[in-house]
Amino acid sequence: MERCSIYSMRTAVDTLMVLEVLLPCVAVIVILMWLMQLSNKSTVYSTLLFFTSIMSLLISPRLWPPKCLEILKVVFFTNSGTEANELALMIARLYTGCQDIISLRNAYHGNAAGTMGATAQSIWKFNVIQSGVHHALNPDPYRGVFGSDGEMYAKDVQDIIDYGTSGHVAGFISEAIQGVGGIIEMAPDYLPAAYKSVKKVGGLCIADEVQVGFGRTGSHFWGFEAQGVVPDIVTMAKGIGNGIPLGAVVTTPEIAEVLTRRCYFNTFGGNPLCTAAGLAVLKVIEKENLQENALVVGSHLKKRLTELKDKYEIIGDVRGRGLMLGVELVTDRQRKTPAKAETLHIMDQMKDLGVLVGKGGFYGNVFRITPPLCFTKEDADFLVDAMDYSMSKM
Ligand SMILES: Cc1ncc(COP(=O)(O)O)c(C=O)c1O
Repeated sequence: MERCSIYSMRTAVDTLMVLEVLLPCVAVIVILMWLMQLSNKSTVYSTLLFFTSIMSLLISPRLWPPKCLEILKVVFFTNSGTEANELALMIARLYTGCQDIISLRNAYHGNAAGTMGATAQSIWKFNVIQSGVHHALNPDPYRGVFGSDGEMYAKDVQDIIDYGTSGHVAGFISEAIQGVGGIIEMAPDYLPAAYKSVKKVGGLCIADEVQVGFGRTGSHFWGFEAQGVVPDIVTMAKGIGNGIPLGAVVTTPEIAEVLTRRCYFNTFGGNPLCTAAGLAVLKVIEKENLQENALVVGSHLKKRLTELKDKYEIIGDVRGRGLMLGVELVTDRQRKTPAKAETLHIMDQMKDLGVLVGKGGFYGNVFRITPPLCFTKEDADFLVDAMDYSMSKM
């Protein structure tokens, strides 16, 4: 294969970008909408809540399954995923009057005090106080003790409530597909059972859609939809701004009400420029049918990667959906020994061939393939060919 210059790299790295670049049309729309919002006398810009048209679009029927639409009507804007999750955790604690949060082992939810507590990989946890979080067994079909039996893993959530708390919890937070954790899609039937245990004792269920949301999975707009659940709070960031700092927390009016107990203040959360960008990005996702593209190209890419697994022993698992795919490398398929050095080496070789892939998982042995949603079949083929070539030279 020919080597590429940095300028012709295909990037399959980061869920941050849903569009390949800040499209000129997005940039123009952002500026125009910003100017329009500034000149629109009916716009309320309070730095507390910013009621722009992105808000009506974010809670529009086009984005949500009907059961969510009935209840999720309030949006708070933030500047990042960490901030969105911090706010969601605080809201859950205030609403329930409880402190205990349940999150999943191997999760990543952010790097501030509360979210670092909910994060459950030692590499991302600094040695500071992170109290009030219990980490449940990860419903990981590849490495988990119960394989693909989601209901068995969910029993651990009930056990934590029964044996690790007063019998009440503030909430449960999870990604539908763990991104930083190595593209781990939770075992089928896990979320309905876990949500049932949490809701039964009055806790709130939080879906962290920071990586998986905005059509990336192809089959659905939001990751949690694949498990048919209705969260009480949905958090989002990354793709919503396509590189511009924007995050959001969507919840019910009754739950949102808790923030009226004090003054909730976020200087830049919901600022006119970033929300204009978010609105423009949502419009492009819709207009260019990017969710459909994620489904079609992602299915093709997964099929080709799975074929590669038949060719190379080093590939232990190919997983994920849409344009959120993982390839886990092991030196021994039976023992699932992480092939850390090999992963780094292949990643480096692929970079020289012009393909940037991300790396994740607790052991750093999983290729995280999360390209912009406009990724084409040709890009996908190029990526697989580069991986194939690099593995053939090992
Ligand atoms: C699932 C998930 N939640 C939250 C965050 C934190 O988002 P941010 O880096 O915007 O603070 C990340 C970041 O990678 C993430 O992957």
